[in-house]
Formats: sequence, structure tokens, C-alpha cells
Amino acid sequence: MNKQSRFLCPETENKINALLVEMTLDEKIGQLHQVGPSPVGGFDISLEEKKQMLEDGRLSQEEYDRALSGVCWDNQEEDIRKGKIGAFLGVIGAEKSNHLQRVAVEESRLGIPLLMGLDVIHGQRTIFPIPLAESCAWDDKLWEFTAAIAAKEAAANGIHWTFAPMVDIARDARWGRIAEGAGEDPYLASRFAASKVGGFQGNDLSDPSHILACAKHFAAYGAGIGGRDYNTVDMSPQTLAEIYLPPFRAAAETGVATYMAAFNDWNGVPCTINRYLLHDVLRKDFGFEGFVVSDANAIAECIDHGAAKSRSDAARQAINAGMEMDMVSRCFTDYLPKLVESGQVSIEQIDEAVRHILRIKFAKGLFEHPYTDPSKESSVLLCKEHRAAARDTACRSAVLLKNDAVLPLFKGARLLVVGELASNAAEMLGTWTLQGRAEETVTLVDGLIAAGMQVTYLPCCGVYSVLDTAGLAEAAAGADVILAAVGEIADRSGEASSMAYIGLPGDQPALLKALQAFGKPVVAVLFNGRPLAIPDVIESCQAVVEAWHPGTEAGNALTDILLGLYNPSGRLTTTFPNNSGECPLYYNHPSTGRPCSESRFSSKYLDTPIRPLFPFGYGLSYTEYAYDQLRVRIENAAIAATVEVKNAGRYAGEETVQLYIRDMVGSRVRPVKELKAFAKVWLEPQETKTVSLSVPFSQLGFYDTRMQFIVEPGDFQVQVGHDSETGLKTIVEIAEDDFVY
Ligand code: GLC
Repeated sequence: MNKQSRFLCPETENKINALLVEMTLDEKIGQLHQVGPSPVGGFDISLEEKKQMLEDGRLSQEEYDRALSGVCWDNQEEDIRKGKIGAFLGVIGAEKSNHLQRVAVEESRLGIPLLMGLDVIHGQRTIFPIPLAESCAWDDKLWEFTAAIAAKEAAANGIHWTFAPMVDIARDARWGRIAEGAGEDPYLASRFAASKVGGFQGNDLSDPSHILACAKHFAAYGAGIGGRDYNTVDMSPQTLAEIYLPPFRAAAETGVATYMAAFNDWNGVPCTINRYLLHDVLRKDFGFEGFVVSDANAIAECIDHGAAKSRSDAARQAINAGMEMDMVSRCFTDYLPKLVESGQVSIEQIDEAVRHILRIKFAKGLFEHPYTDPSKESSVLLCKEHRAAARDTACRSAVLLKNDAVLPLFKGARLLVVGELASNAAEMLGTWTLQGRAEETVTLVDGLIAAGMQVTYLPCCGVYSVLDTAGLAEAAAGADVILAAVGEIADRSGEASSMAYIGLPGDQPALLKALQAFGKPVVAVLFNGRPLAIPDVIESCQAVVEAWHPGTEAGNALTDILLGLYNPSGRLTTTFPNNSGECPLYYNHPSTGRPCSESRFSSKYLDTPIRPLFPFGYGLSYTEYAYDQLRVRIENAAIAATVEVKNAGRYAGEETVQLYIRDMVGSRVRPVKELKAFAKVWLEPQETKTVSLSVPFSQLGFYDTRMQFIVEPGDFQVQVGHDSETGLKTIVEIAEDDFVY
């Protein structure tokens, strides 16, 4: 059921009609203009901090008053009064947000409220694990819960709108923004998208503790050639529709209020001016009723694409393609007036964009309640409940990659901890953490000490610093287990962070090599924002925990896992390659006529193993899960499967049961497997449960050569198990008359 109808209300449309009649062309174009933080007025220090500085005597009253007035960017404040600005990004703090809002509501001619947007990607002040990490929890309720917390904190901070969730499918680990999404699978990313939109927006958009969501980056941004950010995307309409669009469709069906167009072109037409995407797909196919915002400066960058000859031409093409809000390029505000006067842009096109934006402002309740309650900030931001949620989420997001009976650690174990990342709080937060603070973040060393462990800590080396092994041998002699904190700094993932080499950077491999000399078990704790090509790490360490960039409660969560207080349950949502040169690498690929095998004459690399380092869906636990009695039948136009899952070990835990299908023969070749259902089940030691999963026929379809969506009868392999490579399999036939439903 498509929830876009939530934005359509006759009373609101009448109010919009009345406003459109009142509005001048400049005021209409003002609604399409989003501005960023201005350097004037010391934007970099938030008002909240300035107030603290005033109270601490670090700022005089006179300086504070000037900062308060200066923070309001005189020229922008004047533009607000003239109705020439419709939205901001980067205004943080209830006081600052309210100040600008008061100018719009009380000092402009029509009093149309502003929208305050911000990148609240994985938390506002309480920082959760990066989205790629959280996706490894395979838990819709958790994904929604953390988004609701982020929304509550952001709303208290004066934010109305987040530029999230990022739902770009990412198949190439070289791309830094793989950190920001839910991995490589369209089905899982669709459930992630729906959960995040639901968490950010809630059931009532006007609820002051929820914020507008923004599905981004529309579309196929993760498919940039070579894994290079912003690079061109060249793919068939079928691949776009089957792999990259599903999470965006799921967002629309969940009632997402906004979309952000991607920087890249798709098949030669920049998404920012791509009418097929912005109109045919979003409006006609998805039935989207909200508004579309460009990415930062992306309208102007159509010139760099070679798609527009000037900023005016870019503005013309963008508005006529269905782009509606210009994020900071100023092309709309500078050129639309003349483009309308000259007839190159119709007033109807302008009115449609204004209508979509006002519709969302009304739905958000900003006309009735434009201001943020400033009393909420101090009690909501980083409250203990939110910290507890961050700790639990970081536990659920971690993936146990290897464990040769070393973990969990015994309580009295003497630990030698090495690697600068073990004490570097800032790097734990990961990419896109605008309000997260290092001083509020728990490091691995902090967590271990807080848990009462005997810890000797020697940094030895950072991610990019020279290895220093002084004292290492002596320290190792007195330790039972060595913990090596290795990985990436936060700044090497996220935007503009593509890497050609995705092995362990710097002297960290040399550190791990040095540790082998001491004959003690080595546990690697990985802090990283992308899948890493680390066969050497896996080979040399007795246990490896993929912690990603786990957020504010990093150290406490990892300690819970290392001590067995939490039984690891994370499962990978991206394939780990052996070598950087294998990228892009993903599980749901076609077979080819010579499927990858030991045979020389098969589709593979001669210099790297034929299996990935770790497959999609992979993850170990402190216990073992056994599968039995897979039963599959066709009923009610669906594939219905049941399976017995047993906890065969001695630790209680949560298993993620995964169902993959393979359409054995298609009129277009189909992937060797596709995730189509998953469910989590809690099992006590030796407990068995029956798990049921169902795949409606509609999920078995694909686009034929004429772009018609079809579901073909035939044999389907059904695989149910622990990850994409292991599980019970059977073949089920779907006959023609099974489609009579
Ligand atoms: C950036 C990113 C986008 C973000 C926007 C505003 O360039 O591409 O994801 O939301 O600018 O910060």
C-alpha cells in the first residue's frame, strides 16, 4: 500500500491554492531555494556552545549578543524577510533555528515557514553505528527504532528534515559511500529503507519528535564506474529497475516525504535534470507526492557534466525535468525569474514545485507549529536511554568473521591491546557524524577497563603512522590474549573517499605480523567503513570481529561481545573480496556460460581464490545453528517454506534465517541466487524452532527485453540457511496454472 496519499488533503490543497494566488514570482522561487550555512556570524560554533562559553566566562555578554545577531547572516536574514529563501541546511540548535524561523514567520509578507535540513545519517548527538554496520543486524525493528531516536534528537535540535536514509545499492567496496547505505542487496536494502523512513517520519509527520526523511541519492549513485565517487553510471534500464530502484520504491510506498537526486548521470543524462527518473519513475511509477531536492550544487554542476551550457540553462533543464529545490547552487534564485519571463519555463512548472514543497511544510505542521521547544534539547540529546540503544545496536551490528576458540575471553584474561584505533574516540563515530563528539564516545580501551579487565595498552601504530614496537615483546609476555584494533580512519569512507586499494592501510599489516612472534592468541577488532580485502588478517589472527565504525558506545559494545555478554549475531550485507582488483563483487550475479570454477576456462581471476573472502549474509556466532527438514510448497501465489533451526551449541543466540531463490531458466538470464526473505529467531542452547518464510510470486519477477515486468513459470531453486553460500536446497516448480490467483 502506497502511503503517499498521506500528503493529499483537500483542505491543505485549498490553502496551497490560496497561497499560490497570493505569492509573487520571487516568493514562489524563494520556496525552491535552499541555502547553506554562511561563514558570517561564526557558524562553526553552535549557539548552545556559545551560551556555555558565556556561562563559563569564555565569552563576554557583548560578544555573545553579537554572535547571536551575527549568527543570523544579515543578507540571508533580509532574504528571508523578502520570502527569497525556503529552506536551510546546516542550521543546528533550537535557538538558532527558531531565530531564523521567527524572521520567516513573523517578518515576511506571507509568513511561510522555513524547512531546516541536516544530514542526520546515523544519529544526531547519540551516534549509532554507520548504516552499513547497522544493516548487518538484519532487523527491521532496530532500524526503525534507531531512526526514531535520531529523529527525536534532531527535532529537539531544531531540525525538521534529514537527508537520509541513503539507500544506494553498493556493489563496489572501493566506493567510500558504501559506508552510508545497506549494502548490495535490493531486498534487504528495501526493508532497510522502509524501516528508516518509518522511524524518521513516524505515523504523524506533524509530530514534533519526528522529522521528514529523504531517500537518496536518486538514482544508481553506487554504480559509478570504477567505484569512483561522482563517476558516470552506465547500465541497462533492467538493471536499474531490478537492482537500484527497489529501495527507492520501498521508500515511496512507506510515504517518504522527499527524494534527493544523485550527482551522477545515468546513461549520459545527469539525474539532476533527468526527466525519466524525476517524472516518469518518481511521479508516474512510484506515485510520489512530496518534493525533490538536488544534491549540493548539483544543478550548477550540470555544466561540468557537459549537459548545460550555463547556470541559466542548468536551471531551465532542472526545473523542467522535475527538480524542485535547489540545494545551494543559487541557479534557481538567480535565473528562474528571467526564464519564466522569457517563457522558457512555465509558471505552471514553478507552481507545481511550490505546491509539492508547501504540501510537505503543511504536512510537517510547520504552519501551525513553526518553532522548536528549546527546553527539550538538554534532556533528549545523548540521554542514557539513547546511549543504551547505541550500545545494543553496535552489538547487533558487529559481525564475527573468525573464531578459533579464542572468544569469548575469560573474565580474568590479561589483555595486551595494540593499535591506535583502540583509544581513538573520534574514529569510532565514522562518516557523517556532524554532532557526534569524541569526548562523549567510549573507546575499546575505555570499555575493557570499565568492565574490569586487566589491560596493558600499547598503540604501536595508527592507521597511517609508523610502527613502533618498543616494549611490545615484554608486554606480550605478560598477556594471555592480544587484541589488535586495526582498520580505517572515518575520513577514508563516506563522500569523496573512494580507494583503489582496500587492504589494511599503513603499517597495520606489519603490526599484525610482529604479533605472530609472541605465540599468544591474537584477536583483531576491525574498525572500518567498507568491506576490506584482508585475507592476510584473517589468516594471521585467531579471531576477527568486524566492528565497523560503531558510534558513541563503541567500546562498551565491543567489550560486551569480547566477553560473551552478547553473542554476536551480525550477518554481512556486502561481499568481502580477497583483492581490491575483484571489485565490484556481489553475490547476486548471473551465472555466465562458464561459471566461476576450478576450471581454467571459467569466469574468474587466475591470481585470486574463486570464492569471496566472506560471502553475503555471512557471520559466525558463539554457538552453532543446524538446519533440517526444509519443506517448500506453492500456496496462495507464493513460495511457502518451513525449516527446523536448532541451536546446537551452548550459548543462547539470535539466528538470521535467510531464504534465497534461483530462477533456473529465464527469458533474460537470472542471478545465481537472490535473497527474498529473512527472519530472526532466538534460540536457547539445544532449542529447536520451526521458521516459516514466504515469497509472493510478485517478488520472482524481472523486466524483459521490452522493460515489461514479468513472472515466468518454471523451476526455482529454494535455499534456506545461514548465509548466501550455505543452506538446505530444493527445487520447486511453478506451473502456468499456479498463476491463476
Ligand atoms: C553532500 C552529499 C549529500 C548530502 C548533501 C548535504 O554532497 O552528497 O548526501 O545530503 O551534500 O550535506
